[in-house]
Amino acid sequence: MRDLLKKGATLIVLGTGGVGKTTIAASLGVVAARAGLKTAVITVDPSRRLRDALGLDHLGGRPTALGARRLAAAGLDPSLQFFAMVLDVKGAWDALIERFTTDSALRERILNNPFYRQLTSQFAGSEAYAALAQLHDVHSRGDFDLIVVDTPPAADAFEFLQAPAHLSRLLDSRVARWLFTPYVSAGRLAMRLASGAARFVVRELERFAGATVLTSISDFFTAAQQALDGMVDQLNKAEALLHSGTVSFLLVTGSEEERLREAGATIEQMKAQRLRLSAIVINRLVDEETWQYLHGSARGTAPGLDAIANLRGALGRGLDRHHGLDALVKYLENYRARAYRDIARAGAFAQALPPGVRLAVTPEVRAGVIGLKQLAGFGRYLEGCEIKPARLRSVQSWETGVSL
Ligand SMILES: Nc1ncnc2c1ncn2[C@@H]1O[C@H](COP(=O)(O)OP(=O)(O)OP(=O)(O)O)[C@@H](O)[C@H]1O
Ligand SMILES: [Mg+2]
Repeated sequence: MRDLLKKGATLIVLGTGGVGKTTIAASLGVVAARAGLKTAVITVDPSRRLRDALGLDHLGGRPTALGARRLAAAGLDPSLQFFAMVLDVKGAWDALIERFTTDSALRERILNNPFYRQLTSQFAGSEAYAALAQLHDVHSRGDFDLIVVDTPPAADAFEFLQAPAHLSRLLDSRVARWLFTPYVSAGRLAMRLASGAARFVVRELERFAGATVLTSISDFFTAAQQALDGMVDQLNKAEALLHSGTVSFLLVTGSEEERLREAGATIEQMKAQRLRLSAIVINRLVDEETWQYLHGSARGTAPGLDAIANLRGALGRGLDRHHGLDALVKYLENYRARAYRDIARAGAFAQALPPGVRLAVTPEVRAGVIGLKQLAGFGRYLEGCEIKPARLRSVQSWETGVSL
């Protein structure tokens, strides 16, 4: 991880819903700050996860430094330079309109337009765009050595990366502009809408902003005529940042079959788009003891899991005498079998990774990872979490002969 956390770098943390993006982004921020980098963690998550994870009462749209007292209370050096901010999606869009619309009446008309409002508040890609625009700003101001971006919950991790390009294509489309500008009468609009291309554009617009009255789309395109080129230009710039040398991506996944399959699909999509995926973290693969073992050099089976295998034999006839003991042993045996299956699945996944993508594994932390102190503790796992696929595969072979 230390290799990823370099001065001048921007790291975007991706992953499907609930896999641990916010936790890992915040912990990486702590690791980077401890390595002496002035670090900012930007979250796009509308829920207050980052704020809660850091144990803050308030987190706003400007970088907020974590104070000395808070750092010291978490056992960290109070002089660390660690900042966090949450993205103001609507604010970022409105700033764009302000910037590209000189006429104040026109500006008001756009800001109050129902289609514009839906576009900027409901469409998941509007967050992605706003995040990239803000990232672009923070990045070009150069106030930080390192920026870590936590992305919003999404069913598909790749959606976040595609949204700006998709939206810019739509706003830039000749058909959309022809269809809705200059302002056309209801009759003329109905005639234009009858064409196949128009139906496609309307469907796409509705996908972005939900079903809207057509006249409000039309009014948006009319009022925003002056701003559209500037907006498209900004969208393209934000998109270009994703492909620039300073940005790299970290994909977080769980170890369940479905999660690994989704991660595999995201890796393929990123490759096709030539986005730089630097590392993959399989979060919560094993418990903390087994993690220590996986990352050590000792050979053989993991001692904790091994002990489970011997339990039945060790308890012998005691199993019959104590009510519930048999069920408990069965529970532990299932736990052990599941742990080995998870490691085996991760091993197979690791083997198929493209060259140059680093693999890391983090454990399920029993005590939880909420609060700055816990995040700092989790950061220690992140510092030493790289694992060679061969190590995971060798764990599989220890299991040979054990019936799961
Ligand atoms: N390794 C871990 N051990 C224990 N708890 C964890 C671990 N990783 C994440 N969690 C917990 O799991 C929950 C979800 O994690 P987190 O909010 O980081 O996921 P996310 O990917 O950001 O979710 P979303 O997609 O909703 O934004 C949180 O309560 C977090 O504290
Ligand atoms: Mg999150």
